[in-house]
Amino acid sequence: MANPYRSYLAIGESIDKKNYIIVTFFLHSEGQPFDRTAGGVAAESSVGTWTDVNLQGKTLWDKLHGKVFEADEKTGSVKIAYPLELFEPGNIPQLLSSIAGNIFGLLEISALRILDIDFPETFIKSFPGPFFGIAGIRKITGISNRPLIGSIIKPKLGLSHVEHMNAALDVFEAGVDLVKDDENLTSQSYNSFYNRVDEGTSQMKRSGFLGKGSEKIYAYNITASYDEMLKRAEYVVAKNGNCLMIDILTSGFAAVCGIRNKNFGKIIHAHRAMHAAFTRSKQYGISMLVIAKLARLSGVDSLHTGTIVGKMEGGKEEVLAIDNFLRGEWYGLKTVLPTASGGLHPGHVPDLVRLLGKDVLCNFGGGIHGHPDGSKAGAVAVVQAFDAATKNIPLEEYAKNHPELRKALEKWVVKEE
Ligand code: 3PG
Ligand code: 3PG
Ligand code: MG
Repeated sequence: MANPYRSYLAIGESIDKKNYIIVTFFLHSEGQPFDRTAGGVAAESSVGTWTDVNLQGKTLWDKLHGKVFEADEKTGSVKIAYPLELFEPGNIPQLLSSIAGNIFGLLEISALRILDIDFPETFIKSFPGPFFGIAGIRKITGISNRPLIGSIIKPKLGLSHVEHMNAALDVFEAGVDLVKDDENLTSQSYNSFYNRVDEGTSQMKRSGFLGKGSEKIYAYNITASYDEMLKRAEYVVAKNGNCLMIDILTSGFAAVCGIRNKNFGKIIHAHRAMHAAFTRSKQYGISMLVIAKLARLSGVDSLHTGTIVGKMEGGKEEVLAIDNFLRGEWYGLKTVLPTASGGLHPGHVPDLVRLLGKDVLCNFGGGIHGHPDGSKAGAVAVVQAFDAATKNIPLEEYAKNHPELRKALEKWVVKEE
């Protein structure tokens, strides 16, 4: 019996984008016919398998099969159109099990990467999208015209809840707008989630950082099993905290959507830990742009996307494409605040402002808590760097009469010999 994969080829067919999800792949198929392999990807990710099957009716197959409508062996570019009926509205796990499922394990492929996905309006509108978006976060914080400044408490693990929240208060007092747990801080023996929420909300209320308009934001990492995530989210709600943090990839989109769909009315801050396991290779996996699209559908309000200049991989073109997607119009879904985080210190601030613009949250961990004079001085230095950059004053000059910034630059900005 002939392999059915080539029947999924529909090269040149015009596709009505209202009725299909369109996925752009990079494909390489060493030693195998490229077109047949592309057909195999379409088959396995829609209705087919390696052979024809008895119960496959022609009418239903015509209606439901994924169509390879572009396949360029030279560049590896393959576009597949998936009829909307293949998918369940509002269900990201099912979407991924289809278009990012079995196909990655097919023997015929030697490279496969999902570069982009275009969703039709009806599918997009089956999701709630962000509750607040950029405008909502700006309203809560009362900051309208500059990037938001954030900090991750460091060391990332090991501080007690009191030490941790004392450091948070220090940096809030110095002018930082948001503080967050790190991705692997959840509820450990030395720093339980519930103690941290108690300590954080009571210290923040006492200092006037919560509940009085122009709030500071604290992002509590609720990542756990889903039943526990729900309990943690409800606890933050009960204590009038304002932000839930989720490690969206290790938790999974089922959990993210589950929390978002509860409409807690709290900011959802999304950390992308683990993304590089499948976004980093240019040959294999799923692009970060696709993850950002799924994150916006699932309804997070802010998402780590890259720094261009910090410690993590991610070039200018890629990061700007993601950030601009998150900030742009998308069938009426609210926007998502891009978050630049990883290896940043005050010396990076002019580049961050120039490259990333105003609608961004810039987070500093080591670049605040590694300051020679402590966390508070570190936060002051970061705020000074933003003041200088927004006034177009070179950091070195501003540092002459801003000692916190000067010390930070002395520690982190290596002078060229
Ligand atoms: C699976 O989910 O493991 C596949 O659907 C296997 O299907 P096959 O036996 O038709 O390849
Ligand atoms: C993050 O989760 O983004 C990091 O903890 C950033 O930490 P760093 O500023 O010390 O690199
Ligand atoms: Mg971190």
